[in-house]
Amino acid sequence: MDSLLSARGLNKQFVSGGEPVSVLTDLSLELARGESLALTGRSGSGKSTLLNILCGLETPDAGRVEVLGESFDSQRPEAGGKTGTRWGNLRRQQIGVVFQEANLMPALSLLDNVRLRARLAGHEQRNCQDWLERLGIGELAARYPDQISGGQRQRAALAMVFAMKPALILADEPTGSLDRHTAGAVIGQLFELQARHGCGLILATHDPELAARCSQHLDLGHRPEV
Ligand SMILES: Nc1ncnc2c1ncn2[C@@H]1O[C@H](COP(=O)(O)OP(=O)(O)OP(=O)(O)O)[C@@H](O)[C@H]1O
Ligand SMILES: [Mg+2]
Repeated sequence: MDSLLSARGLNKQFVSGGEPVSVLTDLSLELARGESLALTGRSGSGKSTLLNILCGLETPDAGRVEVLGESFDSQRPEAGGKTGTRWGNLRRQQIGVVFQEANLMPALSLLDNVRLRARLAGHEQRNCQDWLERLGIGELAARYPDQISGGQRQRAALAMVFAMKPALILADEPTGSLDRHTAGAVIGQLFELQARHGCGLILATHDPELAARCSQHLDLGHRPEV
């Protein structure tokens, strides 16, 4: 199997009210190129925590992540901020992340946000307007993030991810603030892009229809203890 991402034995606890609470317990997963994985589970089951660990924004208490030829082992700390630099390079060039809260630069128009993302990933900026059009927000290209709705911001964040042509997309409830019709169109674009570029896709969702479209399904709410 042409492995894109492999996670082994992930553990994560948070402290709540002075007590440690286990969010992820000995969790492992495997994703090949071109595969998609739906993360489901009740609110608070750890979907966002897992996505954050898989892109280096959160550190697991134990476990190992191998992604796109890079290996990260929580038991082997690296000197000189090397781990952060390696994760940062992956997020800039190869891992596109769509958060629950869209992360746009407030001082840039939507089009300039998308252009910036493409440039940072080393791509041309010519097609950036197209990405906004395909997500149905082409006419908002000159607006700033605080001049559009939450669902429009979420679509702009997806346009940024598409423009960077990542090898792996991590999307945290990418249609969470969209109506059913718009959500269907956005998801259509997401799966089309994934099929065309053969990139991997991991998405957290509460939508069973969306989960059913993915090639793998991991339910954190009903995960058997290993
Ligand atoms: N930084 C933190 N400090 C303490 N507890 C945290 C922190 N981040 C998350 N948690 C807790 O960890 C658990 C998992 O949170 P997470 O955001 O991963 O859930 P989720 O499955 O994404 O939920 P939702 O469907 O509501 O987005 C929750 O109980 C949450 O309160
Ligand atoms: Mg979440």
